[in-house]
Amino acid sequence: MKSLVIAIDGPAASGKGTLARRLAASFGLPYLDTGLLYRAVGRLVLERGGDPARDQDAEAAALALQPDDLARDDLRGPEADRAASAVASIPGVRAALLGFQRGFAASHGAVLDGRDIGTIVFPDAGVKLFVTASLPARAGRRYAERLAAGAETNLAEVQADLAARDEADRTRAAAPLKPAADALLLDTSTLDADQAFARAVELIRSVVNSASPHGGQGVEPQG
Ligand code: DC
Repeated sequence: MKSLVIAIDGPAASGKGTLARRLAASFGLPYLDTGLLYRAVGRLVLERGGDPARDQDAEAAALALQPDDLARDDLRGPEADRAASAVASIPGVRAALLGFQRGFAASHGAVLDGRDIGTIVFPDAGVKLFVTASLPARAGRRYAERLAAGAETNLAEVQADLAARDEADRTRAAAPLKPAADALLLDTSTLDADQAFARAVELIRSVVNSASPHGGQGVEPQG
């Protein structure tokens, strides 16, 4: 069987990360949160005293990125969010991160989540999901996460930050956030994590079964 790539794109706090991790475990595929790459680049720029919005600073950090940088514990929170969003709009940064993302899925397939996985990184992915949710639903989730992590937070600010980041991700020239033409849409506004997972499995089965009418792909969840 050809290795399966499941591409999951969508805006911040749409539930795509939780879903992607769960699908990967369930289908026995490696998982890559590609947002972490941009977060780690942004963090590296800040650490070096640079400006995440400056091409040279961000590109140099992207080229210097090491796999260990993805395991840092300071990649979340408003400062990391803003730095990630700034470096993500720079074409040289995106180009520098492309090879790593493609290589990640090369031997065993993978589930990857991000903004441009189905459009740019894996335009031939076997399955593409575009996961959305309303802004208030996403803000409520992100706010709850921050509270649970013990961070000082404010719902209105969280929602404004998300809206600004969505706008930047959607309107940038380099690999803007948008569904691939052949992506399946999954709106999680009124779904909990279990319901979103169940719906995603149905969607994945429908794609894989229509690609293989004899059902020979063997991509059933394992647990
Ligand atoms: O998914 P996230 O919130 O961790 O992503 C952090 C930032 O990186 C966000 O502003 C969007 C950007 N990003 C991107 O441009 N392309 C990706 N494939 C993943 C994330």
